[in-house]
Amino acid sequence: MTHDTTHLNRERIFFDPDETIWLFGYGSLIWKAEFDYHERRPAHVEGWARRFWQGSHDHRGTPEAPGRVVTLVESPDTICQGMAYRIDAEILKQLDIREKNGYLRELATLHFPDGSHAEGLIYLATEDNAAFLGDAPLDAMAHQIAAACGPSGPNRDYLFNLAVALENLGADDPHVAALAERVAVHLTQVK
Ligand code: SIN
Repeated sequence: MTHDTTHLNRERIFFDPDETIWLFGYGSLIWKAEFDYHERRPAHVEGWARRFWQGSHDHRGTPEAPGRVVTLVESPDTICQGMAYRIDAEILKQLDIREKNGYLRELATLHFPDGSHAEGLIYLATEDNAAFLGDAPLDAMAHQIAAACGPSGPNRDYLFNLAVALENLGADDPHVAALAERVAVHLTQVK
């Protein structure tokens, strides 16, 4: 698979293009929407854990020094909290470009706090994509995130903005919290 998934995603039409679609954001899509939507609601998906295991060569790093951004990995008995947006199908054209570095449109069941649920889309970067980095020791991931910077800004801002957004949602994510703490400590040490 090449890095650029834009064309693959254009073929992944699991929905009626004339209806609105629920999109679930679990990373930058929580705190940086920058697209039009009809409705925005906190939601969660079940059986998935958020991990900083996807390389970012285009937003929060460069091809020479990639950053780390989140994807979801299968994890029974885990829930991942995030934000759902009800969007028009045409919005996916711009999202496909934003998420082009290895993410594919996938179907997921979104659960809302009132107990209702809906089928929706997520952008998922699986381990077989060329930009996947996978797990690493916490310190190594923290150093990489502290150092990386790309066209969308420093990698650390992505992490810190996500940590704040999750706190605002009342979402407990030990992986994100541990990384944010480690990067903050690292930054005070290198000053
Ligand atoms: C998402 O936010 O749902 C996908 C990953 C990202 O763009 O950070």
